[in-house]
Amino acid sequence: EHMPRRELESIHGIPLYWCFVEKWGQVEAFQARPDDLLISTYPKSGTTWISEIVDMIYNDGDVEKCKRDAIFNRVPFMEMSAPNFINGTEQLDKMPSPRLVKTHVPVQLLPVSFWEKDCKMIYVARNAKDVAVSYYYFYQMAKLHPDPGPWNEFLEKFMAGNVAYGSWYDHVKGWWEKAKDYRILFLYYEDMKEDPKREVQKVIQFLGKDLKEEVVNKILHHTSFQEMKKNPSVNYETMPSWALDHSISPFMRKGISGDWKNHFTVAQNERFNRHYEEQMKGSALRFRMEI
Ligand code: PPS
Repeated sequence: EHMPRRELESIHGIPLYWCFVEKWGQVEAFQARPDDLLISTYPKSGTTWISEIVDMIYNDGDVEKCKRDAIFNRVPFMEMSAPNFINGTEQLDKMPSPRLVKTHVPVQLLPVSFWEKDCKMIYVARNAKDVAVSYYYFYQMAKLHPDPGPWNEFLEKFMAGNVAYGSWYDHVKGWWEKAKDYRILFLYYEDMKEDPKREVQKVIQFLGKDLKEEVVNKILHHTSFQEMKKNPSVNYETMPSWALDHSISPFMRKGISGDWKNHFTVAQNERFNRHYEEQMKGSALRFRMEI
């Protein structure tokens, strides 16, 4: 029993799930509050990871408090909307401050109130090759997506920006540019893998908190991939099975940097690299494809 797969629709030129598009007016009218923290990412870039880190920081490293509810209720997904299911904007409207808000929208589709209220934002970027691989598995397990087809076809769609939320290239470049003028902490998944302590310290500082070393260490342990994979409040196992099928691929799949090497052929990699250079030409944004 799962929902029938449907093709993506388009909202302001960005491919997206039909049921999100249907309620887009609510997203545009969404009222941010000055003390909201926005967690923004292209899909599969470390959203759940940074969300749990931030909720742990907000709760001074109290693991039990962070298990109070599933991550998608503690950090509502703003543009989320599905038949007979939680609607992100309505969920957020009812939520007491300070709120944590998850979004995947490209920068030009962010509700204007976030800019007007000058909200703090954290953007996590992950290298394009690992995102493509992670997205391919997610397309298979999350029934909201059209059928991804074979890997080679999916990779072409990813490169063309013909996937949910559109072009990865435009997304990362757009948010990177905005980070120059707004209160946006720009993080990289690869940096978080390389030195989680350093990156968590950056987040703590950005949020203006001061936590004891032992609390920081507790946060690091609790938000490691191994811990998160077995934690039902973050591993998405509590999502209804019509939406996510963990028997196809777990949400907490591998949690590494460089898994693309197990999926890209030499020819795919060469083609991807050429296309990548073109797309990123003129941008100072740099990614590490492995660590
Ligand atoms: S979503 O659906 O867009 O919100 O997904 P998102 O959470 O952004 O990305 C899922 C990928 O992040 C990996 N992940 C982690 N990696 C390292 N450490 C921790 N703690 C962690 N938590 C989640 C998850 O495994 C997905 O990546 P892949 O490469 O598929 O394993």
